[in-house]
Amino acid sequence: MKIRNLTKDDFFLLNGMDWAPLPRERDSIYLFLALDQGDCCFIAEENGSFSGVLLATRSSDGRSVYLNHLLVDNPARKKGVGTRLMERLHRYAVEAGVERIWLMAYEDLRAYYERLGYRESYDFLSPELQQYLSSEKKISVFVKHFSG
Ligand SMILES: CC(C)(COP(=O)(O)OP(=O)(O)OC[C@H]1O[C@@H](n2cnc3c(N)ncnc32)[C@H](O)[C@@H]1OP(=O)(O)O)[C@@H](O)C(=O)NCCC(=O)NCCS
Repeated sequence: MKIRNLTKDDFFLLNGMDWAPLPRERDSIYLFLALDQGDCCFIAEENGSFSGVLLATRSSDGRSVYLNHLLVDNPARKKGVGTRLMERLHRYAVEAGVERIWLMAYEDLRAYYERLGYRESYDFLSPELQQYLSSEKKISVFVKHFSG
């Protein structure tokens, strides 16, 4: 398996994918990620064919990375592709001096992200945001810290 950075040529791949339950075409998001965030976005390929993608966004001060989405192609699931993509992002964080990767996930993926070293945390959010996300959206925030 090969893991490479996202490039602007991947825009049409991203825009043509089935992101359900997210909307399918989100031109501005995918264009922005493909053009501006290729350093922290990765594509997994098996024999030249797409098998997974990790989309992340680095904050303007560089200290934080938000994991927008991790998606592994159905036939490629449970073979370590998602883990490899996450490990690649962790390597990026270490090399680039990022202090924190954070993400939002529903309960069914808690174990998956905990195994990758993420812990539920709301330290950097306001109490109002924590309340909104936890109680209303039923989604949790997970964080992994790096030395920066
Ligand atoms: C979640 C997802 C990215 C995992 O990718 P993957 O390549 O299949 O995962 P891996 O092969 O790296 O899995 C490693 C371990 O996590 C487990 N795992 C995989 N998917 C899981 C899930 N949805 N929930 C809990 N554990 C899961 C695997 O069983 C495996 O454990 P094992 O080694 O004991 O068998 C993939 O299932 C996917 O694309 N799902 C749909 C999109 C999604 O939910 N994305 C995440 C939210 S942004």
